[in-house]
Amino acid sequence: MLTFPVPEPDPTPTGIGWLRSTVSRFANGAVHARRRAIVEDLLAGIDPAELSRPYDEHPVARLARALGFTGTAEDLRVEGVGGAAGEPRVGGVGGAAEDPRVEGVGGAAEDPRVEGVGGAAEEPRVGGVGRAAKGPRVGGAATDLRGEGTAAGVRIEGIVEDVRIAAAAYQTGDTAADEAVERLVAAFGGAHGERTAARIQLLVQACDATATLIERARTRPVDEVLRDDPPVLATRRVAPDGSIVAVPLAGRPFGEGPRACPGREHALALVEGALR
Ligand code: HEM
Repeated sequence: MLTFPVPEPDPTPTGIGWLRSTVSRFANGAVHARRRAIVEDLLAGIDPAELSRPYDEHPVARLARALGFTGTAEDLRVEGVGGAAGEPRVGGVGGAAEDPRVEGVGGAAEDPRVEGVGGAAEEPRVGGVGRAAKGPRVGGAATDLRGEGTAAGVRIEGIVEDVRIAAAAYQTGDTAADEAVERLVAAFGGAHGERTAARIQLLVQACDATATLIERARTRPVDEVLRDDPPVLATRRVAPDGSIVAVPLAGRPFGEGPRACPGREHALALVEGALR
């Protein structure tokens, strides 16, 4: 069933709809192949050995740094971010995280550990979003994006938070994540193209699964976790009758075939670095 097509979101110019309709994950055929090649090209530029060096932050932060978030003003541009600053950025996200059945995907959605949804259900995402709502994160980020002060840590935290919001809405397309996605686009240079989408996709795909694997591998060998308690239990495909079905991933924790996780080596390196 993994060879069935994936659901394709309608093309959307901005926000989470743009991300979903511009990444490889939700594309089929030649479009998938083209976007996947971009993802593989980006990953080829990140040495897993670098990721496996000891670190003490969210794996998304580690990966974001590897993708170019060095804290220089050049890497992070402010165009398009100003408008977002000061606006309520998290409205409705809590609801999305609490109800993994948004968008009526039937059986697939009822399993909270279907790809991309699991971490959302298991992690204290709502709490995290709440904290963000209280603090001046957006305003702070806009200042930081100009390259002032000791911004690197704050900025990376903002990126991680936005990636977490985008990850929670990745399967559902919940528009509560629109602003987070737009901030990520701005952080990656502001262009709504496939390469920007691919970079954000890497962070979003890595987010919950890698964090979950790190947590579980604190007390057991990684191989054992991947065999007995993998982070991603199932993925979604469109069955010939048009319905969306959950496809179990037991025994193939990174998927298989042309859509198998291209970040497997990087994921394992991120786990290694976090546990050192
Ligand atoms: C423990 C961590 C991870 C697990 C268990 C995991 C698992 C998976 C699985 C099962 C798929 C296939 C989904 C499907 O067939 O529908 C997938 C796809 C993908 N993963 Fe991972 N992943 C992990 C970490 C990562 C990391 C760290 C990255 C990036 C560095 C990444 C990037 C991707 C991308 C880009 C895709 C989409 C591939 C495509 O569209 O062809 N993943 N992942």
